Amino acid sequence: MAEPRVEVFDDAASLDRAAAALVGDVLRTNPAARVVPATGETPVGLYAELAARRGSGALDPTGITIVQLDEYLGLEPGDRRSLYGWMLRTVLEPLGIPDDRVVGLPTDGDVSAACVSFDRQLAADGGIDLAILGIGHNGHLGFNEPPSDATSPTRVVDLSRSTIEANANYWGRVDDVPTRAVTMGLAPLLSASTIVLLVAGERKHEIVHRTLEGPIEATVPASFLRRTSAEVTVVVDRAAWEGP
Ligand code: GLP
Repeated sequence: MAEPRVEVFDDAASLDRAAAALVGDVLRTNPAARVVPATGETPVGLYAELAARRGSGALDPTGITIVQLDEYLGLEPGDRRSLYGWMLRTVLEPLGIPDDRVVGLPTDGDVSAACVSFDRQLAADGGIDLAILGIGHNGHLGFNEPPSDATSPTRVVDLSRSTIEANANYWGRVDDVPTRAVTMGLAPLLSASTIVLLVAGERKHEIVHRTLEGPIEATVPASFLRRTSAEVTVVVDRAAWEGP
């Protein structure tokens, strides 16, 4: 179990290129990789860089399978504010991945029972090859809100106040943000072969250092990245690393 490798970059473009190189390494070895792509602002530049590499012929991501990391509950089907909708516009279409190669999280019917089947099927299919993750201000990965243990399965969660506020700009106002979600659990995530965590902006300064240097505990779910057999690389910009 190695410590995460930390790479610090001066600007967004070099961070995106470095992350794209890590993704490229995985896809060259395994063109049919099962990949979890985080939503959020931080990885947008990486996805654009991957799309550019696809355009120039330097990368062929069209054979991968996408596994959904998190999703809001209680939305109407087809709501463009769903995380699936976000992923469709920002990852699937630019990378040329058809939606029949997406393993979506359950959102209808008995969601809790379906989450158990989701994890079972994921394990039977060989788990995750690559997880591209961001981090919440409270240390969440996906929607694994504190406290989340390393053994937490895929499940329904209540979103924390800080997560609801952080996502309000996608919804217009705080009161419109869904309060419940489904998230891939830390257990299947931490079983990935390779994890790339992207961290940017001075507002992530405190949490990136708590993640990497503080106690490994459920109150900072991302701290479990230091206790996994996955090969973990943290790509971080100087603003987040050095702080305000
Ligand atoms: C959101 C998502 C996470 C994401 C994180 C950071 O709530 N559920 O998957 O990684 O928060 O988002 P951002 O990159 O916009 O800061």
